[in-house]
Amino acid sequence: MRALVTGGCGFIGSHVVRALLTRGWEVTNLDALTYAANPLNLSGVEAQTGYTFVEGDICDTPLVRALVRGADVVLNFAAETHVDRSLLKPASFVHADVQGVVSLLDALRGEPGAAFFHMSTDEVFGALEPPLEADEDQPFAPTSPYSASKAAAELQVRAYSHSYGMPATVIRACNIYGPNQHVEKFIPLFITRAIAGEPLPLYGDGRQQREWLYIDDFVSALLAAIALPRVDCVRAIHAGSGERVTNLDVATSICSLTARPVSLIRPVDDRPGHDRRYALDSSRMRGLGWRPMVPLLSGLARTVSWYQEHPEIWSRALSGQGFEGYFEEQYRTRLAGADTL
Ligand code: TYD
Repeated sequence: MRALVTGGCGFIGSHVVRALLTRGWEVTNLDALTYAANPLNLSGVEAQTGYTFVEGDICDTPLVRALVRGADVVLNFAAETHVDRSLLKPASFVHADVQGVVSLLDALRGEPGAAFFHMSTDEVFGALEPPLEADEDQPFAPTSPYSASKAAAELQVRAYSHSYGMPATVIRACNIYGPNQHVEKFIPLFITRAIAGEPLPLYGDGRQQREWLYIDDFVSALLAAIALPRVDCVRAIHAGSGERVTNLDVATSICSLTARPVSLIRPVDDRPGHDRRYALDSSRMRGLGWRPMVPLLSGLARTVSWYQEHPEIWSRALSGQGFEGYFEEQYRTRLAGADTL
């Protein structure tokens, strides 16, 4: 089987590339190598048979069209994904997350053999009051420039699939974490700063809830979705763990796993428009026999160990990638005025 994976040097994409190669797939990885990509996430993979790397942008439709030819599946992980960055630069999210998807869909129109799998997010539903859980038919109500871009992309996938009879699957996941994740995201930011003994900027009251899924569990969900019989329409499927915890609880666990005092946690000014709670109903995925195998505390322990043991991989994101300037803009003033918990 042949896969075109976009964004294969990023967090989720890199795990998917490895999983497919291990299962004997031929994999072409199309990655624009933006700040969010880290080629070291794939170290050792370059030499494997069946692996091809192409540097390029999903917005380059002729390039994508050439790469799609002969692929059985196209898996789209190329995206701008960080909500805080979307608040600073919304237009770049429309470019990568909407324009990029339309470009992929255009390239796929002439290739009926290739099934499209598009990575989406629970954030397209906006914040849900407890005990609400979003099933696959929940109406969209995105609130951030990031989630609005992802919702817009999904609408384009639906429209193309409906209009041209293209097989497409949208996988909406809850928050995913684990090795290789960029240090700008909550869990890796807190782990790497806790390791360094630096203050941990917790937004608002820290009582926001997120549902957390370990990366290996996401990969097994994706493989289950790929194995489904092909349909000539769009299909959505949710991959969530059901483990919903407050950010404060996650931060406290990270302090304990890194043997740091909770006084490192600093409540700072909240993210504008911060969604309070996300929750997915993943019964459709569970109906396929899929179960998450890694509970949050074990996944966090594994993730902490990985960041402790692999600074040569994740620290690449700190040097020469503009992270310092981003951190300065995002956190410096907030942290300067923050007290301990
Ligand atoms: P994040 O990893 O950015 O994912 P998302 O916003 O897409 O869910 O953030 C996860 C949660 O952690 C979210 O509620 C915001 C919060 N958070 C902080 O409290 N401090 C931080 O420095 C970051 C990056 C996030």
